[in-house]
Amino acid sequence: MASKQPFADSDTADEAVRATCDDASICKRFASSKGYWTDLYLQYFVRQTGERKAPEINRGYYGRVKGVNHLLDAFLKKTQCDCQVVNLGAGLDTTFWRLKDENIMPKKYFEVDFPMIVARKIHHIKRKSYMVKMAREAKPPLSKPLIETHSNDSLLLEGHNLDSDKFCVISADLRDLSTLEDKLKKFHINPVLPTLFMSECVLVYMTAEQSSKLVRWIADTFPTAMFINYEQVNMDDRFGQIMIENLQRRQCNLAGVDLCQSLDSQKERFLSTGWESVNALDMMAVYSMLPQEDVARIERLEFLDEKELLQQLLQHYCICWAVKDKLNLGLTQIGF
Ligand SMILES: C[S@@+](CC[C@H](N)C(=O)[O-])C[C@H]1O[C@@H](n2cnc3c(N)ncnc32)[C@H](O)[C@@H]1O
Repeated sequence: MASKQPFADSDTADEAVRATCDDASICKRFASSKGYWTDLYLQYFVRQTGERKAPEINRGYYGRVKGVNHLLDAFLKKTQCDCQVVNLGAGLDTTFWRLKDENIMPKKYFEVDFPMIVARKIHHIKRKSYMVKMAREAKPPLSKPLIETHSNDSLLLEGHNLDSDKFCVISADLRDLSTLEDKLKKFHINPVLPTLFMSECVLVYMTAEQSSKLVRWIADTFPTAMFINYEQVNMDDRFGQIMIENLQRRQCNLAGVDLCQSLDSQKERFLSTGWESVNALDMMAVYSMLPQEDVARIERLEFLDEKELLQQLLQHYCICWAVKDKLNLGLTQIGF
């Protein structure tokens, strides 16, 4: 069993969790600036590429982004975009803008995060609009797709909420299910539509009980749904212990680490909460199943001295995906 962690008070703990949003987007910004993948929009949320990140970190993020995108794009294809996407703990993620550019937009794309993170995200979207308006340039890059895909003038763009026809950003604590449900309803989520929920390094910050309640509520509410969860696995060994200690030093509790012991414990969270079919792969496996031509390309970008370190890193993260398919769309066939 992974060791229990000393308890930081809840405000400090939540603040440390919110800070992980910057870590993720700074690392993604750095790796994309190195050419691991293209992200045209992260620059508007994270100005600096920041200090150099080790090649194994960049390759780890490459596997994470490509792996999650592979499953997300497969879901959009299976449902022919007649679906919704809900990105839980989205932070400064830019997937909405990628989907718009690639012309594979769902009917509506929702994001959820803590109010403080959502306010920052909305501020960036608004600030760019304002600055560009002042400079009398063409439509701004972040708000342009929002405006273009919105049919009337009732676009809501205020401090803690953004709602347009296609894109909605909601402030909510994922541990408070009734508020989450109310807000998703208020912004017109349709439980009958096939719906993809995704969480990238998010559930691990909630207790096993809290994340299980969340995924059970989704399974009970959305008859045709998929959940993609990317996070830590194999946390019981020495390397996992060091990862936990590093985060503890920043007051960041991995409250849900008990479900990160193995691929089986990751799958169990979904199997015990009403999902029909569940799969999980560690990132070593995912990395080896990505298009190898592109993997060869990124492996030429930077010399990697510490091959073992990359392997250890990839063995300690996984993607777990679960499906419920009332409409028989063939969602269980989605995989690598
Ligand atoms: C490691 S960051 C990942 C951000 C984004 N998913 C990505 O991969 O770029 C974790 C995110 O989850 C959010 N988060 C964690 N626990 C949450 C909760 N209980 N309610 C809402 N958001 C939460 C944090 O605020 C943060 O933005």
